[in-house]
Amino acid sequence: MCGIVGYLGHRQAYEILIQGLHRLEYRGYDSAGVALINDDCNLNVYKTRGKVSNLEQSADGKDTNGTVGIAHTRWATHGEPNDVNAHPQLSQSRSIALVHNGTIENYSVLKKALIQHGYSFESDTDTEVLVQLIEFIKITNGCSTLDAVTEALHQVEGAYAIAVIEDGDPDTLIVARKSSPLVIGVGDGETFIASDATPIVGFTDKVVYLQDDEIAVIRRGKPLQVLSLKDNKPSKINIQTLKLSLAQLEKGGYDTFMLKEIFEQPATLRDCLRGRIVDDCNRVVLSGVEINKDKFLNARRIVLVACGTSWHAALIGKRLIQEMCGIPVEVEYASEFRYSNPCLTKDDIVISISQSGETADTLAAIQLAREKGAFVYGICNVVGASIPRNTDSGTYIHVGPEIGVASTKAFTGQVTVLVLLALCVGQLRGTILPQTVHDVAKALTELPETIEKTLRLDSKIQELSRIFTYAHNFLYLGRGYNYPTALEGALKLKEISYIHAEGYPAAEMKHGPIALIDHEMPSVIIAPSDSLYDKIISNVQQVKARGGSVIAIVSKGNRAMADIADYCLEIPEVPECLSPIVASIPLQLLAYHIAVNKGKNVDMPRNLAKSVTVE
Ligand code: G6P
Repeated sequence: MCGIVGYLGHRQAYEILIQGLHRLEYRGYDSAGVALINDDCNLNVYKTRGKVSNLEQSADGKDTNGTVGIAHTRWATHGEPNDVNAHPQLSQSRSIALVHNGTIENYSVLKKALIQHGYSFESDTDTEVLVQLIEFIKITNGCSTLDAVTEALHQVEGAYAIAVIEDGDPDTLIVARKSSPLVIGVGDGETFIASDATPIVGFTDKVVYLQDDEIAVIRRGKPLQVLSLKDNKPSKINIQTLKLSLAQLEKGGYDTFMLKEIFEQPATLRDCLRGRIVDDCNRVVLSGVEINKDKFLNARRIVLVACGTSWHAALIGKRLIQEMCGIPVEVEYASEFRYSNPCLTKDDIVISISQSGETADTLAAIQLAREKGAFVYGICNVVGASIPRNTDSGTYIHVGPEIGVASTKAFTGQVTVLVLLALCVGQLRGTILPQTVHDVAKALTELPETIEKTLRLDSKIQELSRIFTYAHNFLYLGRGYNYPTALEGALKLKEISYIHAEGYPAAEMKHGPIALIDHEMPSVIIAPSDSLYDKIISNVQQVKARGGSVIAIVSKGNRAMADIADYCLEIPEVPECLSPIVASIPLQLLAYHIAVNKGKNVDMPRNLAKSVTVE
C-alpha cells in the first residue's frame, strides 16, 4: 500500500506533491510527509500522522521552496501510525531522504548489522533500515549515491517502489521498483514519479511504467536513464501515452467519490460493454478470449483467484462459467491459493480478478499459476497495472478510475465482464443456446438504462437508512447468483459504516445465524423473481417468525414479498444471471447512507486502503 510521488523540474515541487498525495490517498492515509531541497540546496522534511490535509496544516508557513521533492502517504505496516514512522525516512546524517511503498522482509537482520556498526534508529519502520543502509554503503564503499542505492537494493528482500533525494543535490532524483508499482511522467524539462498515473494527469500524458528490478535516474536537464538492477545495463525506455483525464479524477459535483462512482454506473457499464456485443445481440466478442480460442476450447478447469470485492465477483463468475460453458470452476482467495501448492496443468486456466491490478496476493497467485504452467487470464480495471502485465491475456473492465475505497462500479464492471466472458466462451464451445446468448446480450445492452432506473431508489433508501443507522448487526441473505451479492452487500456496510454485517446463503441461516435473530437484528434479503424465489420466501418467513425486521430487494411488481417483509425495494427484472449487478445497487446505496448518517468518511474508511500491495 502507501503512495509515493516525486517531482524534479522547473516548477515549485510542493504544490505538485501535495496534489499528487491527495490523488494517492486512496492507497493509505495513516500519515503523510514530504521532503524538498530548497534553493540553498538544503533538505527540508515535513511529516505528520493522519491525512494529507494534516500535513498541509503542519507545513503551513514553513519553507516549502524547491523544484525537487518526494512525498508519501502511508498505510502502516511496520510501526504504528505516528509522526516518527511517517515517511520520508532519513539516513543517520539526515542527508538522504527516502519514501517507500512495499515491505522490506529482511529488515530486522539488516537493522541488527547496522546497529553493530553504530547506527541508531528513530522509527519502527523497515524503510528507515533501507535509507540507513544506503548511507552506510555510500560511506563504506566511498561510492556515489546511485551506486549505494543499487547495492542496498541487492541486499534487501521484499517489495519496494522507492524515491530518493539527497541534501545538497537539487538536480537528482533516484527511483526504483520491485513488485510495487511506479510510473514516471516525462514532461518538457520536468519529470514526475508516482505509484500510479493519477498524480501525473494534467501535467503530461507521456509515461514510462518502470519494470521490476529497474532503477531510474532523473537528472536535471538530462534525458531519463533507466538501468537494470540485475546487471546495471541500460534498459529500453518504452514511453506510452496516458488515456486518463482530469475530470475522471474529480468528484464532479458529488459529496464523495463513492456516491459519484455509484451514480456513474450507467455510464461505466456502457463503457465496459462498448464493442463487445455485435450482430444484433447475437454474438459476444472478447478479443482476449478469441485470440486464445484453443485454450478455452480445451480447458479442463478454470480457477478464479481474487481478493475482497473482486472475490465476490469471482463467486458469481463461477456460476456463470459453469452454467454457460460446462467447465468446472473453482474460486480461491488469492492469499490462500498462493500458499496452497495448487495442482495445475497447462489445460487449466487461472483467471485473476482485480480492480487495481496491484493486489500483492493476487499478483503472487498468478505468478505461481504461470510457474506451474497454467494459462493465466486477467480481468482488471487499471490499464497497464502489474497484474495485466503479468498475465497471458485478459480483458479490461474499462470503468475508469475508482477512488472511493469501497468498490462499487468496479464490482458491477467485473460481473459484467464475467457475463461477457461466459457468453463468449459458451458460444465457442457450443454449450449455450443462441437464444440465451441473444436474450442475455440484449439485456446487457439495456443494462445502463436498467441501472439508471434502479438508482431512482436513492431517496427511498436514504429514508430507510435512517431507521437502521444505529443497528449493531446486520444479516444479508441471498441464494444462487445472489448469495455473493449478499456477501458484497454485507462487506459494503462493514467497510464504511463499521457496523458488523454477515452475508450468508439464505438457506444456511437455519444452521447457525438464525440464533442471532431478534428484533434488533435487521436482515437484508436479496430476492429477485428467479428460480430460487419460492425457496427464499420461506427463509424470510423464518426470520419474521423470530421477530427480525426484513428489508427485501425484489423484482418490480412482486407482491408476495411485500406482504411478509417490512420494507421492499423494487428493482427492474433482468435475466437471472444479471440480477447481482442490479441488486447490488440498492445495497451500495444503503451502506452509503447509513455511513453518512453516522458521520463516517465513506471515501476513506478507517484502517482500509484501496490498493493492498502488502501480504
Ligand atoms: C482492498 C479494497 C477492496 C478490493 C480489494 C481487492 O481491500 O479496499 O475494495 O476489493 O482490495 O482489490 P483489487 O484491486 O485486487 O480488486
